[in-house]
Amino acid sequence: VALRVLLLGLGHVGRRLVEILAERSRHPALTGLDLAVVGIVTRNHGALLDARGIDPREVVSDFRRTGFLPGSAGSGAADGLAAIRSLDYDVLVELTTLDVERRGEPAITHVRHALSRGRHVVTANKGPIAWAYTELKALADESGCALLHEATVMDGTPVFNLARRCLRGNTVERLDGILNATTNFVLGALERGVSLAEAVAAAQRIGVAEADPSLDLDGWDAAVKLAALANVLMGASMAPEEVERESLAAVGRERLLAAHARGSRVKMVCEAVREGARVIGRVCAREIPVGHPFAAVEGTGSILRLTTDILGKVLIVEEDPDLSTTAYGVLSDLYAIAEGEWTGRPAGG
Ligand SMILES: NC(=O)c1ccc[n+]([C@@H]2O[C@H](COP(=O)([O-])OP(=O)(O)OC[C@H]3O[C@@H](n4cnc5c(N)ncnc54)[C@H](OP(=O)(O)O)[C@@H]3O)[C@@H](O)[C@H]2O)c1
Repeated sequence: VALRVLLLGLGHVGRRLVEILAERSRHPALTGLDLAVVGIVTRNHGALLDARGIDPREVVSDFRRTGFLPGSAGSGAADGLAAIRSLDYDVLVELTTLDVERRGEPAITHVRHALSRGRHVVTANKGPIAWAYTELKALADESGCALLHEATVMDGTPVFNLARRCLRGNTVERLDGILNATTNFVLGALERGVSLAEAVAAAQRIGVAEADPSLDLDGWDAAVKLAALANVLMGASMAPEEVERESLAAVGRERLLAAHARGSRVKMVCEAVREGARVIGRVCAREIPVGHPFAAVEGTGSILRLTTDILGKVLIVEEDPDLSTTAYGVLSDLYAIAEGEWTGRPAGG
C-alpha cells in the first residue's frame, strides 16, 4: 500500500524531489518505494490536494510553465497548518524555509501538529531539529512515529541514518567538521586571490549562498547544523545561539597566506565537545595541516568526523553536492518509514 505523503514547500528541494518522482523510469531502483503524494502546499505558489495521488509529471510541467501548482495561479496564500491538521496522510515532508530569527518557527509548529496527530515527519528544515529536538522526539516516541531529518546536515549524505543504523552502542564523545558550503567555497576563492565580495557573489550565482549571505558568513548556518548534530548524536540540548561563532569576514587573506607558508590551510571548523555534563559548540577558523582530511575539502564539499567511545573515529565526506543530494536525503528517510522501521510493519494504508 502506498505511503501517503503531504509535502509542505515546493522550493528548490521540493521541486527536485518531485522531478525525481516524475522521472522514475530513469531511476530503476526507485521502483521499490511505493508512495503517493496526496498534497502539496506552498506559501504563495498555491496548493494541490488529491487523495488518489498527484501526478508529479503534471506538477513539474505546470510549475515550469506557470510558476504555480496546477490550478493555483492567482489563488492567494495557502494555509499549511490547516492542511497538516485536517488532511489524511501518513508522512509530513517539511521543506519550508529555515527562519533563524524566529528560532525555527513556523516549521516547529508544523512538525508538532503532525506528530500529535500520529503522523510521521521527514524534515529538511533544520529549525525543528536545532531548536526543538528534545520536545519533538519525545512526542514522536509517544505517538510511535518517526521524526527523520537526514537532509538537514550534509544534504543527503548519510549522517543520521548511518549513526542510527550502524553506530548503535557507541557514545559520540565529540564531533567536528566542515559543514557550511558557502564559507568553504569562499575560503578557496580567497586563497586564489579573489576578493571577498566577488567570492560571495560567485557563491550566490552557483546557488549555494543563502539569499542573505551573512547567515553563512557569520556562522549561523553552521551553528544551526552543529546544534542539530549535537542534539541528535550527543543528546545535547544546544540552541544555535549558544554556539560560539567566528565570522569569516574576520579572516583576512594575510592569515590564509601565512597558513599556506606553514604548509596549512585555514578552514571554518564546527565542533561539539563534551565538557562535564554539557556539550559546548564552536564554529571557528582553524589552521589545518595539508595532510589532514579537513584540508582536502574543496568548494561546496563537507566533512564530518565522529569520535566515539568504542568504534573510534568515523569520517563522512560529501563531494560536490547538488539538489538531488538533498532530495535523496528526504527519499532515504521515506524509505525507512515505508519499510516499517517504526511500526515493525510497512507503513501506509
Ligand atoms: N537547498 C538545499 O540544497 C538544502 C540543503 C539542505 C537543507 N535545505 C533546507 O530545506 C528546506 C527547503 O529548502 P529550499 O532550498 O527548497 O527552500 P526554498 O527554495 O526557499 O523553498 C521553500 C518552500 O517553502 C514554502 N514555504 C515557506 N514557508 C511556508 C509555510 N509557512 N507554509 C507552506 N509553505 C511554505 C515556500 O513557498 P513560497 O515559495 O510560495 O513562499 C517554498 O515553496 C530549507 O529549510 C533549507 O534550509 C536545503
